[in-house]
Amino acid sequence: MTTWKDEIASRKTFAIISHPDAGKTTLTEKLLYFGGAIREAGSVKGKKNTKHATSDWMEIEKQRGISVTSSVMEFRYRNFHINILDTPGHEDFSEDTYRTLTAADSATMLIDAAKGVEAQTKKLFKVCRLRSIPIFTFINKLDRQGRDPFELMEEMENLLGIRSYPMNWPIGMGRDFQGIYDRINKKIELFDPDNPSNIQVKEVSGPNDPVLVDFIDPSLLEQFQEEMELLDVAGDAYDEERILSGELTPVFFGSAISNFGVQNYLEHFLKLAPAPVPRESDIGPISPMDGEFSGFVFKIQANMNPKHRDRIAFLRITSGKYTQGMSVRHVRLEKSMRLAQPTQFLAQDRNIVKEAYAGDIIGLFDPGTFRIGDTLAERTSFSFDEMPHFSPEHFTAITVKDAMKHKSFEKGLQQLSEEGAIQLFHTYKRFPELQIVGVIGVLQFEVLEYRLKNEYHADIKMESLPYSIARWIDGPEKDMELFKQKQKQLVTDRDGRIVALFDNEFQMNMTKDKYPNLSFYENSYLK
Ligand code: G4P
Repeated sequence: MTTWKDEIASRKTFAIISHPDAGKTTLTEKLLYFGGAIREAGSVKGKKNTKHATSDWMEIEKQRGISVTSSVMEFRYRNFHINILDTPGHEDFSEDTYRTLTAADSATMLIDAAKGVEAQTKKLFKVCRLRSIPIFTFINKLDRQGRDPFELMEEMENLLGIRSYPMNWPIGMGRDFQGIYDRINKKIELFDPDNPSNIQVKEVSGPNDPVLVDFIDPSLLEQFQEEMELLDVAGDAYDEERILSGELTPVFFGSAISNFGVQNYLEHFLKLAPAPVPRESDIGPISPMDGEFSGFVFKIQANMNPKHRDRIAFLRITSGKYTQGMSVRHVRLEKSMRLAQPTQFLAQDRNIVKEAYAGDIIGLFDPGTFRIGDTLAERTSFSFDEMPHFSPEHFTAITVKDAMKHKSFEKGLQQLSEEGAIQLFHTYKRFPELQIVGVIGVLQFEVLEYRLKNEYHADIKMESLPYSIARWIDGPEKDMELFKQKQKQLVTDRDGRIVALFDNEFQMNMTKDKYPNLSFYENSYLK
């Protein structure tokens, strides 16, 4: 019989981090396909184009054709329950994308073999690093000519500061792509460009097995054997501990579109990736195997259904088991509440959940009671660590056009910042005080304007500001005092912390040089 502990141990909750166009949708489709969650690979993408009919939640989304609704995809593969957290990447890139990563126990970094480490991947990687979660790497599009694998590994080290261990290695690339060699299981998987789903697997004694000449082009074989030797001599050793602490990334090569190398990655991933891990709280770490149910809200999504103006709060279950209708404590509000009809997400269809376990994500109907970072617990009162804010990249000063609407405007701003759609700052010691909104993706400004108008009946005026960087500042009191006196462009965040705004890196670096005793943090965690 499966116990609730077995259920938790079978969970793998992860996010795929990548730059747009690296193949995240394609890879996700193939994974769901393996799990039988979709019938044919291709339907996720198909849905991306057609789903507006069922889930268009606001005009902007419809006009722009942006998907915001596929937040979590859950599927089973063998005995595992796998939750893939979606990290929106195109125009809808926002702070939500970062925050979603706090709900993941590991991440898969997807890299286009021709492009290497790109800007958005780098940003998302840094967020994963804050919690030292294990990071798996899938280097995609091997069916096309890409960059030298060694060069890609070196780039990961230089740009991301992570060492890598290739779990498999490509033999040839592009037109010459012959397949991959699995270094752990010592087998070759052969690529057939005319029929990619026909993967032939050959067990070998190692890269120098004489039998290899029977199915690999001799010139490619020689190069492959040299590369393997180089890897054995100069590469990092396989070390699970370093993988689990996020210091070493296991690297897989493949072609998502051809569904080649995907299963190899998935099998290794499932063996190595952690089951739900303990989470820090104000009473110490909370183990997922604690008998008591608990969870935290990491994302709030508004108006999925325009008729009801409802919100969905996404809760990551951190310990124990949820059962339908159970009563829990809303720790911040110090009140107990019944979780009536949470939904779970199976390849984008919303279902009512009857039970769920640590590692799962459930969607709670939110009439306005939740804030990002809220803790729910069965009995004990404790709070999970605060959810960090990350440096916005676009800023605007904001005022309401009609002073009569001031109250509802303030309420709306407050609500939207609690949902995490925007960050709200106030100018520091400046009269008259200005309210400044910071966002990570510019689309959020449109969302803000639309929602304030439609939900709070407040027309706003926005004046774009030249900043592109925010830094949370900390350091010895004396230095802080001097900084507060001298530095211009200072604001305070929602919790009154001092934040400095800069137009660009150059300006920020000049300031850093001037105040060597102060620390400039990219996030409100001050890490
Ligand atoms: P994203 O979600 O990361 O933005 O990427 P997506 O999966 O949409 O893939 C981006 C493009 O890369 C798509 O081509 C997709 O077909 C292609 N692609 C994904 N994996 C591979 C691969 O392994 N090899 C090759 N050669 N291409 C791959 P597109 O032309 O933009 O779209 P489509 O018309 O093919 O759908």
